[in-house]
Amino acid sequence: MKSTLLLPAWASLALAGFDTWSPPGPYEVRAPCPMLNTLANHGFLPHHGKDITREVTENALFDALNINKTLGSFLFDFALTTNPVANSTTFSLNDLGNHNILEHDASLSRSDAYFGNVLTFNQSVFDETKSYWKGKTVTIEMAARARLARIKTSKATNPTYSMSELGDAFTYGESAAYVVVFGDKTTGTVKRSWVEWLFEHEQLPQHLGWRRPAELFQAADLDRYMQEIENITAGLEKPKPGGHRAKRQNSHFGW
Ligand code: HEM
Ligand code: MG
Repeated sequence: MKSTLLLPAWASLALAGFDTWSPPGPYEVRAPCPMLNTLANHGFLPHHGKDITREVTENALFDALNINKTLGSFLFDFALTTNPVANSTTFSLNDLGNHNILEHDASLSRSDAYFGNVLTFNQSVFDETKSYWKGKTVTIEMAARARLARIKTSKATNPTYSMSELGDAFTYGESAAYVVVFGDKTTGTVKRSWVEWLFEHEQLPQHLGWRRPAELFQAADLDRYMQEIENITAGLEKPKPGGHRAKRQNSHFGW
């Protein structure tokens, strides 16, 4: 039976917005992505998390986060690749957890597939991540250190550790995103209380002062900060006089 049939009629009126929030119900699905889960909990994405179209994805990312529709459409194309049904035009949030397509080891708040559930929040994994967030403001450098620490931990503890090139690009993108999509793309920082709330509650922290960013967010913004994380990481791994690795010629995602 479709879960929508179990809901009262008013629930199908697609209540959505910053002031609407409820956790997933028993027949509803969620992703390994704290932001998409948050958007579903607010109703910007369908609350059941299933059969999400390109248009719905683009609108949700734009309405909630001021992400331009070109980038929204691009991310949707990645999401589609995780739907096991050939030629599908939609994805469901749990498809995103199919291991080693987009979902990867060394996540910031989820177990590696070897250890358990890649979809659900894991406090001890997240505690390691947030131990690198010092003070009231999280910087890109802190995000780079946290990302690298999680990769080192996974490599040291997971005998099946793997990371594809695409997975690696996603790790840079995700670490950049929680700072500059969710936070401030001009300063490259985010309030620590906001980002902790997002991960731990999968809710937009308006009660802590978060608001939809005023400026449009585009692929070039993401690229810039992914590159910065890569540069900082190169410096942390192989400190050498003379600075960072040469800038890559193309973006991580090839756009
Ligand atoms: C994680 C997909 C939008 C932030 C993930 C993962 C997937 C994913 C597959 C799991 C990777 C893993 O950790 O194994 C998508 C898709 C999106 C989208 C398809 C758009 C259609 C966003 C946006 C943000 C975001 C707009 C902005 C903040 C994150 C973060 C993680 C993540 C911070 C890392 C979670 C962790 O490592 O525990 N996303 N995402 N995502 N996503 Fe998204
Ligand atoms: Mg993962």
